[in-house]
Amino acid sequence: MNIELDSMDPLNSDLDCLIIGLFDGEETKSPAYNRVDKFLGDSLHVLLETGEVSGRYGSNVLVHSLLLSSTPNEGLKRIIFCGLGSNAKFSISRLRNSLATALRRARGANCKHVAIDVASFLGEGIGLSNVIEQVAQTCHTGLYRYEHFKSRKAQSTVEEVKILIGDDNNHAKLDDFLNSGKAIGESVNLARDLSNGPPNIVTPTRMAEIANGFNSPNLSVEILEAEDMNELGMGALLGVARGSAQPPKLIVISYFGKRSKKEDVIAFLGKGITFDSGGLDIKSASGMRSMKGDMAGGAAVLSAMSAIGQIQPDLNVIAIIPATENMPGGDAQRPGDVVTAMDGTTIEIDNTDAEGRLVLADAVCLALDRGATKIIDVATLTGAIMSALGDQCVGAFGNKPDFTKLVIQAGESAGERIWELPTYEEYGKQFESDIADIKNSGGRAAGAITGAMFIGHFRGKADWVHLDIAATSRSSVTKGETPKGATGSGVRTLVNVAHILSQSTR
Ligand code: BES
Ligand code: MN
Ligand code: ZN
Repeated sequence: MNIELDSMDPLNSDLDCLIIGLFDGEETKSPAYNRVDKFLGDSLHVLLETGEVSGRYGSNVLVHSLLLSSTPNEGLKRIIFCGLGSNAKFSISRLRNSLATALRRARGANCKHVAIDVASFLGEGIGLSNVIEQVAQTCHTGLYRYEHFKSRKAQSTVEEVKILIGDDNNHAKLDDFLNSGKAIGESVNLARDLSNGPPNIVTPTRMAEIANGFNSPNLSVEILEAEDMNELGMGALLGVARGSAQPPKLIVISYFGKRSKKEDVIAFLGKGITFDSGGLDIKSASGMRSMKGDMAGGAAVLSAMSAIGQIQPDLNVIAIIPATENMPGGDAQRPGDVVTAMDGTTIEIDNTDAEGRLVLADAVCLALDRGATKIIDVATLTGAIMSALGDQCVGAFGNKPDFTKLVIQAGESAGERIWELPTYEEYGKQFESDIADIKNSGGRAAGAITGAMFIGHFRGKADWVHLDIAATSRSSVTKGETPKGATGSGVRTLVNVAHILSQSTR
């Protein structure tokens, strides 16, 4: 799909469709509305009065302007009015949700050449450059489909989107926002592809291949094999991998920003369990059903790095993705086993299904070893986060309020909701072990917190934030910008953290 900025007049074009945003109660104030009204022979008020066309959030009305034309093959063929809700409640999530629905409506009508009137999407507190970035993102994320394994692919595709900016002559600067929007949209879709991909295809080896395939001169990729992990003393990660016939891979992607101070390194860690059967503490059939998506954190980190390689913020990032299956093979670890993490911590395996924190423990140790001073880990860590927060937001946990706030705000301004839960040290009692330093499960109470704090145990002197995306990484329905299946949760937050830190370290 080709997405570009353009200054053309859509009413004098042969576009298949023009998308116009409308704010609730302000419909007739919109210049685009008035231009189109004239184009349609001053008839729009009839549809407005009956309430068919409106700025109501979520409404999408397609009007066939081609029916008015004596030469229907020429000229603008359709207009979609896209309800944005009240201007006071406008947000980038609302922008993306309503635009995504409008874009799918256009695709459903077989439109190939689509234009979006950007000025009509400018709401309170969201400026032109931000709108352009979000629109470019949404062209990718809103039209996302996963059909790699469909013999018959869908026929309708939008081939070209023109983002109409009127006669704004500041093209060059706006192009940066267009390009970062495209890069982020594509990387959200990459994360979705990986988590939607079947677990017999998206193996640790495949994830490593994808990382190796990043052809950006700004990214260097290193794959650690089981022997390397063994040499580093990563007993926690290797313990999880033992039950699987698939070799584990530890994916390390480094990005060095051009103008940043070399010593400052932020680490992004992603849980990469390509299938979580639970191990010997095996899951129920229904509990196992969605566990191909247990690498969504790893997918988010991998994909964010791809965007960062393109956007090139001024900071240093090291991404670490411990990738393995959690299977109950003959050599699988047992409840009761004791393993030793890279930093020497001994861990009693209380429950083989609490594997995410084990693989991330060694990832945190490696991040510290590589000089990380700030760490963000992203993981589908616990079912308990669903009980705590539902699927409306990501759960956050941290040790330094300033850094936690920065991450939450980065999510907020990138359109991902994040809510902090406490990490009171008293919860640590729950994962004390009788025979080892700690055990890998803290029981049912506060399950998301004890899971997070287990990972935090390894953070050393670093600032650390853990994001639990177990509830937000999949959706059971397509709604607005969120597709059914994998959502790509976490990608935008990570890219925005990199962007924000890059601004502040200049
Ligand atoms: N991958 C699961 C968490 C999960 C559950 C993600 C549902 C997405 C949907 C994780 O490895 C797990 O099994 N966690 C256990 C931990 C418990 C054994 C301490 C859980 O949440 O039940
Ligand atoms: Mn598990
Ligand atoms: Zn898991």
